[in-house]
Amino acid sequence: MKERVSQKFAELYGEGAILFTSPGRINLIGEHTDYNGGFVFPGAVDKGIVAAIRLNGTDKVRAFALDLNESAEFGLNEEDKPAQSWACYIFGVCREIQKRGGVIGGFDTVFAGDVPLGAGMSSSAALESTFAFALNDLYNLGIEKFELARIGQSTEHNYCGVKCGIMDQFASVHGKAGHLMRLDCRSMEFNYFPFDPTKHGYRLVLVNSCVKHELVGSPYNDRRASCERVAAVLGQEFLRGATMEQLEAIKDQISEEDYLRARYVIGEEQRVLDVCEALEKDDYETVGERMYETHWGMSRDYEVSCEELDFLATVAKECGVTGSRIMGGGFGGCTINLVKEELYDSFIASVTAKFAEKYGHEPKIYPVVISDGSRRL
Ligand code: GLA
Repeated sequence: MKERVSQKFAELYGEGAILFTSPGRINLIGEHTDYNGGFVFPGAVDKGIVAAIRLNGTDKVRAFALDLNESAEFGLNEEDKPAQSWACYIFGVCREIQKRGGVIGGFDTVFAGDVPLGAGMSSSAALESTFAFALNDLYNLGIEKFELARIGQSTEHNYCGVKCGIMDQFASVHGKAGHLMRLDCRSMEFNYFPFDPTKHGYRLVLVNSCVKHELVGSPYNDRRASCERVAAVLGQEFLRGATMEQLEAIKDQISEEDYLRARYVIGEEQRVLDVCEALEKDDYETVGERMYETHWGMSRDYEVSCEELDFLATVAKECGVTGSRIMGGGFGGCTINLVKEELYDSFIASVTAKFAEKYGHEPKIYPVVISDGSRRL
């Protein structure tokens, strides 16, 4: 990817580009908890975006998306928003930096990626983090890492129409090889958690249903709105900290749908804490049980699954997989699976065959390698 990007840059704009990269992410558990002020447990992966960038001394950005073979050119004022949705991510990052007082100018860039698009692995966060990190570096802006993540999140909110939480951008910027990160999305405190399931005879693997998930214009924002309505009835800023008893007590003041959404989130808060505790004792069986509970909570109460993902989790269970669940926002994409070493090959063979038989195409398999966050190459 580095060579392809550098070569194309040289061909289009000449020499002197600097390469930057940011990864996609996995999330062990804690889904749809971030915008509820709860905990998440992500890690960065070895797949991401690579961009070659060189400042061009003008007030225009010239960008080329290598995987799409498309170019865009835009200015840095609010009215210059480009037409291409991929370019809006770059434009949004520039605008959000400017809103924070960062003085930036134009640049030329070519970028490419190997995070599968729409797989729930945060390809868009990888793109935002790459440019936020690079511009901060190239213009010496001195913006703190966590603020770089917020720049990506605000880009989604203000330029891409997704009212996402902070998890994806946070994980992409802060990732560390061999570590998951436990982030408290209320206090924004986090700590690195050494994580190497292979030491304990387990592997993590993603199975991509290849059902494309799209959070833009999706019911993602509706889910968030449900949670906010319930929190308001409870008199809280966030659902975080609410108990099932409190929820039962206001059941007749909220819709059935909002009730189900909140029930999932409150359960998920507890599951993240259970998983952290279990990991401290190397109790992978409990980790796996909670993963299945998350899957069916997301499917039945939060209603962000789809037939193919339910099928993948069901087959995983039949194959004796320790834990399996939808990963990310939902509506398609991957399941994340915690599998005993000795069952790994038979699970992959079996899930591939069964899925292909039912849906006419094989799922894609990605072994998880937990890697570093945003950096200059
Ligand atoms: C998407 C969002 C995140 C988070 C997850 C669900 O990836 O971008 O902020 O809400 O969905 O956990």
